[in-house]
Order: sequence, then structure tokens, then C-alpha cells
Amino acid sequence: MKVLVIGGGGREHALAWKLAQSERVQTVFVAPGNGGTAGDAHLRNVPIADPQALADFAVAEKVALTVVGPEAPLAAGVVDVFRARGLRIFGPTRAAAQLESSKAFAKDFMQRHGIPTALYMSFEDAAAAHAHVERHGVPIVVKADGLAAGKGVVVATTADEAHAAIDAMLGTPGGRVVIEEFMAGEEASFIVLCDGTNVLPLATSQDHKRIFDGDQGPNTGGMGAYSPAPVVTPNVHAKVMHEIVQPTLAGMAREGHPFTGFLYAGLMIDAQGQPRTVEFNCRLGDPEAEVILMRLKSDLFEVLMRATEGQLASVELQWDRRVALGIVMAAAGYPGTPRKGEVVGRLPAAREDLQVFHAATELVDGRLQSSGGRVLCVTALADSVRVAQQKALEAVQQIQFDGAQWRSDIGHRAIRA
Ligand code: AMP
Ligand code: GLY
Repeated sequence: MKVLVIGGGGREHALAWKLAQSERVQTVFVAPGNGGTAGDAHLRNVPIADPQALADFAVAEKVALTVVGPEAPLAAGVVDVFRARGLRIFGPTRAAAQLESSKAFAKDFMQRHGIPTALYMSFEDAAAAHAHVERHGVPIVVKADGLAAGKGVVVATTADEAHAAIDAMLGTPGGRVVIEEFMAGEEASFIVLCDGTNVLPLATSQDHKRIFDGDQGPNTGGMGAYSPAPVVTPNVHAKVMHEIVQPTLAGMAREGHPFTGFLYAGLMIDAQGQPRTVEFNCRLGDPEAEVILMRLKSDLFEVLMRATEGQLASVELQWDRRVALGIVMAAAGYPGTPRKGEVVGRLPAAREDLQVFHAATELVDGRLQSSGGRVLCVTALADSVRVAQQKALEAVQQIQFDGAQWRSDIGHRAIRA
């Protein structure tokens, strides 16, 4: 059978790599894909982005299943387009994807359904937003409303920072900011599969958002991840399912938008083990997908086929007991303006316990070069976080990629604990 993966990052490389392992899958098309998916025997890149054109392609190629990676095509309604044409696709509709595409929708939804999260207020008026900061003091969190790939958020520790963030975000007409209470604690990524009714949690993971070691510097899309996340103890896991995931899915169904697809709850877990929701994403995380899929032993194609049939209740997922740890190699300049066009070479051969997932790479005249901010995610499996980190770092250090930035402390919380 043929499968189509929409997207072109490290998450989509990992999805395509995993789907291609199924005995029932001959070809995985990746639209648009990247230099890594271009170089793999079972994967084929397709230069299409428009939802109707993707649906035409799926019809022409008799694609059995389409899986959507990033948020943008979901927010553009690609699932609605495919379903209207009777095509099988795994992902949320445009209406359900509002859990991610609109922070105001997500926060109002959580309030309606009693789902634990930070107190917040939404503003269109700059003067009112500034006054709110003056009343509440710092630390305080200022977020742009709309898709920002995790980068439209300022955790302000001074009032000046908060005011500057408001001015920047409300600088454009129709802009809106959400101002939130600061939550202390440790973050984790909790991602589940949903078929509209049933829910199946994936392995837990933890991302590293800041660009520099020691969680310093600006936020990024994610500089590395590992799975499982020990901060999600069995007790915390049960609370997340009971207090966050189940009420969210029930609420979406009750409001007429049953959620199908990957639902990602970004958690903040306080010192008492109480989880609260930082945000929802309506997709797999990146780089969380790379480490989660490295550990998944089940046939992802079969699982997602069942999910599109509303049959997740009959699925049990098998996981590798080892730790997976992925280190992102980003371009010079990231998370600002990345330097593109660097030669990427000396990639280690893939092994059972080591994979290099490509994100922003492209093949130009048969040569691999960088084409954006996050370029590679080097992912290793090992019996401990420390050994997985060493393995991944050794591979990173041998890769040729001028100006590359990476963190050498991915997994530090688990190593310390
Ligand atoms: P978001 O895009 O909403 O996930 O925010 C990006 C990052 O900002 C999160 O991963 C957290 O590290 C941080 N953050 C967001 N909201 C809060 C909050 N209310 N309290 C503390 N940290 C936050
Ligand atoms: N790594 C965080 C995200 O995918 O949103």
C-alpha cells in the first residue's frame, strides 16, 4: 500500500521512516519532504502543498492513508478537504485544530471544561495589556494569539520585557495577546492518539526549548528530546489522563468537534506532582516524534489505520524499554535568521540504535545542504539517558556542518534525577 505524509521536518522524516517499516507499506510519499526523505529507498518526495492538489495526488496514486505532520495544513483544513472527498486521513479537522491554532480558543475551552491551566486574560488593546502587567507584576507570560511554532511566547522576568513583548505582538492590526500567570515546575510532553472516541497514550517525552545549554537563551521549536520522561510518574500519568486528556476529548466531542489525530498536551508539573496544561498542539511534537517513534515497536501503519476506523480501543502499543534521546543540530543564526546552504556531510550510517532524522536539508545536485533553522535530529537508543546522550553526541561531533549549534546537555533533568 501507499502512504502520504504531509510535511518536511524531522517529525515527518521519523513518521515516514516508521510507516515504511510496515510489511503492508511499499511506498511512503512525503510532501514536500527534505534531503533525508529524498535519500531513502522506500520514501519519495512530492513537491505539493495545496490541500486540493494533495487530495488529487492521493486519488491518482491510490494512497491508502495520509498522515499530517505540522499544524499549518491542519489549520488550513486539509483533513476537511480529504474527508469531503472520501479519502482516509489521520489528523484533526480545522475546527478541532483550533486547540492549537488559537490560544484564545484553547484557554476558553480549558476554562469551560475545568481543565487545569494558568490563569490568563486576552487583550486586543495595548493600554489595557500594559495596565494588566503593571497590576500583576513579574514573572508573567505574554503570548501572541495564532500559530507561532512555539516561538510567539515571552516568559518575562522584568516588566520592561513584558511591555516590549506586548508592543511587538500588538504592533500589527488585528493582533491579540494572551497574558498568563507564570507556572513554576518541570515541563513534559504528553502525546496521545485519538480516534474521536478512544484515546491511546504514546510514550512520554521531554523537550528542551531554549537554544543554549542550561536552558539559557531564547526559546526555539525544540533543541532535543528524550523518552520516557521520569517526571511523569505513574501517579502523574493517571492525573493527566483523568484531569486533562479525557475531559479535553469529551469536551471537544460535546462541542461538536470530536478530536481525531495526535493530541499533544504540553504539561507543567509542579513540585507536588500536580500537572497543568501549558498548551495544546494538535500534532506530534518535533523533536518529540523522533524519540517516541524510535521507541515504538508496533506497526504504526496498522495503528493509524485502526485509528481512522475508530478502533483504537482494540490496540495495544509495544515500546522498546530503552531510552531514546535526540539532539537537534541547528544552523548558525537560529532561532533568528538561520544561515542556509551549508554543506552537511559525514553522516553516520543508520544503525538499529542510531538514526539521523533530517529536518531542514535538501539535495542540491546530489549534495546535501542545510535549508533552514533546525537541520538534523541525531537520535540514539540506549539503556540509560547518560549513555544515549553520549552516543548521540559522538555522532553529532563527527557530522560536517559549518556553524552548527547543538546542546550537549539534552536529558540533564533525568540524569540529575
Ligand atoms: P507555548 O508555545 O505556549 O508552549 O510556550 C512556549 C514555552 O514557554 C513553554 O514550553 C514554556 O517553557 C513557556 N511557558 C509558556 N507558558 C508558560 C506559563 N504560563 N508559565 C511558565 N512557562 C510558560
Ligand atoms: N517541540 C515542541 C513542539 O513541537 O511544539
